[in-house]
Amino acid sequence: MKILGISGHYHDSAAALVIDGVPVAAVQEERLSRHKNDAGFPLAAIEWCLDHGRLSPDELDAVIFYEKPTLKFDRVLTGMLQGWPKSWRSYPKAMKNMLGEKLWVRGLIASQLGISTRKVKCIEHHQSHAAAAFLTAPTQEAAIITADGVGEWATLTVGTGYKRADGTSEIRLLRELRFPHSLGLFYSAVTSYLGFAVNEGEYKVMGLASYGRPTWLAAMRKLLQPAADGAFALDLRYFDFLGKVESGFSEAFVALFGPPRRGWQPIDLKSDDGRRFADIAASAQALLEEILVGIAADLQRETRMRDLCLSGGVALNGVANDRILCEAGYRRLFVPSAPGDAGCAMGAALYADRILFGQPHKPVPDHPFWGPVPDEAALLRIAQEDGIPAAVNGSAIEDVADALAAGQIVGWVDGALEYGPRALGHRSILAAPHDAAMRDRLNRDIKYREEFRPFAPVVAAENADLFFDLPRGGARLARFMSGVVPVRPEWRERLAAVTHVDGTARVQVLDREMEPRLHALLEAYGRRSGIPVLLNTSFNLAGEPIVNTVAEAYSTFRRCGIDLLVAGSVCVTKPRIIRAQILENVA
Ligand SMILES: [Fe+2]
Repeated sequence: MKILGISGHYHDSAAALVIDGVPVAAVQEERLSRHKNDAGFPLAAIEWCLDHGRLSPDELDAVIFYEKPTLKFDRVLTGMLQGWPKSWRSYPKAMKNMLGEKLWVRGLIASQLGISTRKVKCIEHHQSHAAAAFLTAPTQEAAIITADGVGEWATLTVGTGYKRADGTSEIRLLRELRFPHSLGLFYSAVTSYLGFAVNEGEYKVMGLASYGRPTWLAAMRKLLQPAADGAFALDLRYFDFLGKVESGFSEAFVALFGPPRRGWQPIDLKSDDGRRFADIAASAQALLEEILVGIAADLQRETRMRDLCLSGGVALNGVANDRILCEAGYRRLFVPSAPGDAGCAMGAALYADRILFGQPHKPVPDHPFWGPVPDEAALLRIAQEDGIPAAVNGSAIEDVADALAAGQIVGWVDGALEYGPRALGHRSILAAPHDAAMRDRLNRDIKYREEFRPFAPVVAAENADLFFDLPRGGARLARFMSGVVPVRPEWRERLAAVTHVDGTARVQVLDREMEPRLHALLEAYGRRSGIPVLLNTSFNLAGEPIVNTVAEAYSTFRRCGIDLLVAGSVCVTKPRIIRAQILENVA
């Protein structure tokens, strides 16, 4: 069967194509439209997936949307009536959105693609998340947890998944927590209180947490109270999901924790306010971890499963993921490369294939590279037209290793674009990981950011244990950079650019078969430096999506302090004089 999965109209739209049970293409709309976290109808992503699969829309057997709009409308309408008159400010927008597009999404998709509405189906949001984690993971049976802000009504579900010997698949969600009781919305309210953008700055809260101590944990527990059955309830007096949709926290929240941080306010950790913000972040993070570990451990005791599949936006919290793996009793923890809503496009398509249509289970290739492939020859042409030295280099890997060892920063484009928020070796900026000065240079000359987390390292699987204190199953969790683990103390100084203030790193553990060229580069770099580890950060500037084409990579290279741009065997070297001009402009 030919099945297209779609997520969209909320944030991070995407499309994915599954043919005869196996994914053939998946891409986020933002990578094509160049609008970060593009929430629109993912027309460009759909067109690219169909082109890549050499299909016209009428050849599709089904198109699956990643949530049920009628259930969501039910929640929006109920919320509006409960919150009236306080909700009068936010709900016209929500209702316009629902009535204008979402509720009629089946008709909208059918008309956009020129197909019959009968072919368009919607599945529940957390089923999409569950399928994105379980049906892509190399496991036959697993416990499943999904957790995000909110889908239709559900905010967190627990269940089980089976791929049976007779080819059938089952995903059974046993219980769910419902809006407004949501771990994702709790964490987003704290994100907003700390002055970061919701759905964007949650990782900054996690990073800031490492600078603080959980001295506000008792106050935090007033917000989110565990229930006897392992669930929890938010005390809604501290939240405001109706009046101020952009903030999420209430006056009572402010009375408890003090004045919120404004987005433009720098966080000075030497000041009382700076320390208070770091301690609040640490307290929220500690509580999130405690609740997640509790739910995961209860589910393990109940199901006796040895594997856990975790998905939903909350699964982007690598610190919590590591604690779940260490403490909840599982052997392995699978987090897909796109655990957020973008990943639901593939989840929805696979769910339809295996469960709605009962097609036999097939293993899903265990990698994140489902997007467009770059055109290396185009890079050669673009650079030459721009008058910048470029060449096809038969020994590119050795030369790039030389450049990295000499302290150069490399833009690395290689093969199909990653599906999900992390650069995992196909659209990466690479650099030597040893010196904290490299981290500062990257922040100053390339990323133009002040971050609370340093950059992430990538290490070949066979060397990972030497440098990182991976728990049992940790290498699997780190396959898609989904866990934060300790750097071994004896290496922290020599891995200063990738080691966080608390001695941890969000490492990618790379198997040769997943990305042979980057693996070869790690080996070549190790031969020069004695430490086969590289700094690996996403190939984009602040506020922009990760680059897709070589033209976008080149444009980024021309606007920042990257020294060398490599796409396959094509290498473009930035002349010193141009580099100096760019850095002068940046300064
Ligand atoms: Fe979600």
